[in-house]
Amino acid sequence: MSNTSEHHKQVLSSDDLIALFKRSRKHSIDLIANLSPEDCQAQSMEDASPAKWHLAHVTWFYELMLLKPFENQFSYWNPQFAILFNSYYNGVGDKHPRNKRGLITRPSMEEVLAWRKNIDKRVTELLRKESSSELRWLLKLGIQHEQQHQELLLTDINHLFSHNSLYPAYFLNNTETCSTTDEFHWIKGVSGLVDIGYKGDEFHFDNETPKHSALNQTHSIGSRLVNNSEWLHFIEDGGYQDFTWWLDEGWTWLQTKSIDSPLYWSQDEESLRYRFSLYGRSLLDMHAPVSNISYFEADAFARWASKNISEYAGARLPTEFEWEAFAELKSKSSTDMFDKVWQWTSSNYVPYPGYVPWQGVAGEYNGKFMVNQMVLRGSSCYTPKGHSRITYRNFFPTHARWQMTGLRLAKN
Ligand SMILES: [Fe+2]
Repeated sequence: MSNTSEHHKQVLSSDDLIALFKRSRKHSIDLIANLSPEDCQAQSMEDASPAKWHLAHVTWFYELMLLKPFENQFSYWNPQFAILFNSYYNGVGDKHPRNKRGLITRPSMEEVLAWRKNIDKRVTELLRKESSSELRWLLKLGIQHEQQHQELLLTDINHLFSHNSLYPAYFLNNTETCSTTDEFHWIKGVSGLVDIGYKGDEFHFDNETPKHSALNQTHSIGSRLVNNSEWLHFIEDGGYQDFTWWLDEGWTWLQTKSIDSPLYWSQDEESLRYRFSLYGRSLLDMHAPVSNISYFEADAFARWASKNISEYAGARLPTEFEWEAFAELKSKSSTDMFDKVWQWTSSNYVPYPGYVPWQGVAGEYNGKFMVNQMVLRGSSCYTPKGHSRITYRNFFPTHARWQMTGLRLAKN
């Protein structure tokens, strides 16, 4: 396979790259410092994976994508791991069923950690010997891939812990920093033809290209994210009980699943509202951006707010192109475009005009998921620093809500 790409300038020395690699590998280990082997073993639902599986799968990625094609006298740590820890790569071969990842009690955590060390050593040695642009690109992909799984590890632990009435806190010494107190106002968006897609020389995903023009109608964008106080208003106004606001599929979804609030919200006998997060269970922070909502909920809220809150008259979700042009404009002054919650857009996750997936096995990374999913922009407080960017396209199905997903409004 060849993804050496014209657009990946070699600016980092091998030592710099090795340092980046080591830092990202260490970060994954740091993430499990407060977790027991039992915590790392359990799988709370099909969409979520055990922490142990995440640690193993990102290691599998390096073994299969980088060492296998490049290492002299390559041999597997264990050839059966190629199946156990394959996520979705048909080009690699068979896969262990996704909904049975929690049943992988062997290898032990201890062996997974030993395997990680072995791969770390071999990748480092390979990088010292060989510096082709393709290898360097694969390493950057491996780092970005591990960062994506670092966020998933956290959201999956959050989901797992949410099923435990001890309300375990993952973060022991911190208080949540998602809160925002900005006043709301509308800001004029960028209309007309706008430049969309990745333009620089650094690593980026294939789904952010080719850069192209998109047409934005005249519109405005909300200065801040929708917060919990506004969401509570939606709930108390019967928003979850009135079909008027809901897409038909969303209405069926909420009735089938008996949904009447964001994921992780609860209420005690005195009607006090709580939210469970990696910081444990705490009283709902009214100024924090709402999170853990599905696309259906974000869309219904916008429709409800448009009719029920005077300053939100005409509100809807932004398109991903409105979001991107706004982020470009506002990136210096904005406090909540990134690092708070991923923001649902009204854009389907489809290829940009002229999109070509990466060649080879890495081509399965993004392109084959371009159906029945919606684009989210920004990043969340669980996204590793430096991972996201203005052109970054996250995507999830319309019902998914175990990620840190929220919204920002737009209007014509
Ligand atoms: Fe993966």
